Amino acid sequence: MIVETKLDHLVHPVDLASYQDQVNQIHEGLMAKTGRGNDFLGWLDWPVNYDKAELAQIKASAAYVRAHYDVLVVCGIGGSYLGARAAIEAIRGLFPKDKMQILFLGQTFDPTYVAQCLDYLKDKKFAINVISKSGTTTETSVAFRLLREMLEKRDGVDAARKAIFATTDAKRGALHDLAVQEGYVRFVIPDDIGGRYSVQTAVGLFPIACAGIDPEAVLNGSAKAREDTMDPSLEKNQAYRYAVARRHLYHEVGKDAEFFITYVPSFVQLGEWWKQLFGESEGKEGKSLLPDSATFTTDLHSLGQFIQQGHHCFFETTLHVLHHEQDVTVPHDEQNLDGLNYLEGKALSDIQEKAFEGTLQAHTETGKNDNIVLDFEGMNAFNLGYLFYFFERACAMSAYLNDVNPFDQPGVEVYKKNMFHLLGKPGF
Ligand code: PA5
Repeated sequence: MIVETKLDHLVHPVDLASYQDQVNQIHEGLMAKTGRGNDFLGWLDWPVNYDKAELAQIKASAAYVRAHYDVLVVCGIGGSYLGARAAIEAIRGLFPKDKMQILFLGQTFDPTYVAQCLDYLKDKKFAINVISKSGTTTETSVAFRLLREMLEKRDGVDAARKAIFATTDAKRGALHDLAVQEGYVRFVIPDDIGGRYSVQTAVGLFPIACAGIDPEAVLNGSAKAREDTMDPSLEKNQAYRYAVARRHLYHEVGKDAEFFITYVPSFVQLGEWWKQLFGESEGKEGKSLLPDSATFTTDLHSLGQFIQQGHHCFFETTLHVLHHEQDVTVPHDEQNLDGLNYLEGKALSDIQEKAFEGTLQAHTETGKNDNIVLDFEGMNAFNLGYLFYFFERACAMSAYLNDVNPFDQPGVEVYKKNMFHLLGKPGF
């Protein structure tokens, strides 16, 4: 099993069977596409229905980028960047051997970050993937204008046109129109797939392919998760088990927050993607869990005290990796001044496993707090595709259990309107 939802570390056990009827109903609504937000359910079958010709174009363009450039700048925000970043960091690690560097811009107005990024790119051979469904997101549009101007001035308009790849709506929007006018290679964000559910489309797959990761493996992993979540039975459906456990802890036990825990520094961005998925899907109508994330054992030395003995307004969901890509062994030291010879010959994977077991025991048995454990087979492109779909499916179920529309985000508009008004944008 690629992901298994273990519920034996809940201090407040969940009666799964009591949720089965409700889950069946929501599942039927999902499959029949009759629930709230049903015009945004394209992600459900996308791993098997995706546009095969576009995938071929994605692979060909990625090969071109890899052959002609040293850096790809991914220009997007929210759902138009988090998935790609999560995937690239989780799979390549934080010290990638691959020669293609991937940078992210368009997700901030911070002048220092932007200036430093532009300065860094001054003498680099770089391509741009600008990603925006609406085509008008200000952070992304401003960054893209800066990047495009830089490239056109430095290399000429024709060279810039070859280096720019636009992922946006198929028919409309400012970015669509600009891309058509300039003749950029274009990829499509389907109408019926929202930003936070779009990592398996060109939004995620083109940057992923440029990073040297097989996009088809990601899709195949998602297709397997789709197959595995077709049966709503809470005995079998691991995504729905997770959704129901969250609902139980929120609604019955009274938890207000969930910590997504990993033990892997290169999964920090996966936590960011997860936070957007659940935060934007569920955080509405004044009811929802606060999604937060932490990396152990690192954060046990910062948040650990709070988690152990602070206000237990939260529960933890731990992504427990069963197999690691690489391992390191503790060497022998003749003098043993550091007293570590008791670990001599031990693999770090074994040490980490004991840290996981000890922490779980500390937080559940001593601390009396609830922990959902997601056993995860190990990180690769296929399994990550599986994990993405697993969470998407769980999130849809969880939001419907909480009686909110998982696929809109009306609250995000409020800051934009205020900002536009303050900036003097016409019409605001
Ligand atoms: O999930 C979402 O819908 C949002 O996070 C969007 O992806 C984000 O606001 C960026 O929007 P756009 O792709 O239109 O630039």
